[in-house]
Amino acid sequence: MAKYKIAWMPGDGVGKDVMEAARIVLDAMSFDAQYVPTDIGWEFWCSEGEALPQRTIDTLKTTDCALFGAITSKPRDEAAEELAPALRDKGLVYFSPIVKLRQLFNLHTNLRPCKAYPGNPLNYRDDIDLVVFRENTEGMYGGVEFHPIPEGVFDALCAHPKMEKFRQHGLDNLALSTRIMSRKGCESIVRQAFEFAKTHNRRSVTVVDKPNVLRETGGLMVRTAREVAKDYPEIPLWEANIDAICMWMIKNPQDYDVLVAENMFGDIISDLCAGLVGGLGFACAANIGDEYAVFEPTHGSAPKYDGQYKVNPMAMLLTVKLMFDWLGEPEMAQRLEAAVARVINEGTVGTYDVKKDGTPNTTLEVAEEVAKCVG
Ligand code: IPM
Ligand code: MG
Repeated sequence: MAKYKIAWMPGDGVGKDVMEAARIVLDAMSFDAQYVPTDIGWEFWCSEGEALPQRTIDTLKTTDCALFGAITSKPRDEAAEELAPALRDKGLVYFSPIVKLRQLFNLHTNLRPCKAYPGNPLNYRDDIDLVVFRENTEGMYGGVEFHPIPEGVFDALCAHPKMEKFRQHGLDNLALSTRIMSRKGCESIVRQAFEFAKTHNRRSVTVVDKPNVLRETGGLMVRTAREVAKDYPEIPLWEANIDAICMWMIKNPQDYDVLVAENMFGDIISDLCAGLVGGLGFACAANIGDEYAVFEPTHGSAPKYDGQYKVNPMAMLLTVKLMFDWLGEPEMAQRLEAAVARVINEGTVGTYDVKKDGTPNTTLEVAEEVAKCVG
């Protein structure tokens, strides 16, 4: 029997291409795993009204972790229009399967390292090495939303003096998305950021929020961070507002190290950080819970490149590296990262985003090159 059982979730669009690339490298490393294919993605939404079928959830529960490609996400109304005719007007509502997975399996931590590998022509600077800890189940993406607003909720809200200006619009003309954050959620994500900083000898932890405006939720995050920081006197805690850090990261990204944020702000800064080290073609991510984890590159499904083997597989390969780390295979992780770094540095084989002169290589050719280097 194989050492690991990995749920194999290509999803759709270029998710399928980059997962094929991952497989080339995993096989070259003789990684001892059984891969269990699962149904997830846009086609299942269209044909069954569920992008993450229950059978997939059941399968995941029998595996050690999941490797995931990408998935198409569309707003509610556009999604409803693409349902098979027999499923329309049944009140089915599209919900992003990756967000659902994070919540169902309580994958509370989204780890997103963004490192400028030497030789990457897309690096903003070569001395950037950032790690984002994004809270993954609460906050603005916690899913507690209303439109129209139910009467009981509306009445309760109206007790708040600031509701005065909204009341006149009436229930049907108001939409409400909440930002609910727990002390436990804040504490857990901040502590993980500090633990990471401590074990990896990092210089600082920056908590990103907006407590001057979001006084209760942002306030809870920052106050909790200050409490946790007391347990790590050797690591300075910096505080930054989300808007200001978007500017500072462009001016002086090399000053930052470990960043920690609530779900939406973490989503925003992780794309910003990715942009500094070559873009989404290099951005890897791990959704980590207490017992389970789902590894996915930060990029989406890029439907326009579907099946063209055009996109950069490095994000996916670095995601596999995160999976090795989590499984407790540091030697495999190191070997893979070194191979990725070497191919980037040599610069002779690369996809269209990095190779401006000459013919760009395909997703799979880049994977083959990495596979050669890990051998
Ligand atoms: C990400 C993506 C997702 C998110 C989307 C596709 C739901 O942007 O993983 O960063 O917002 O979490
Ligand atoms: Mg995102």
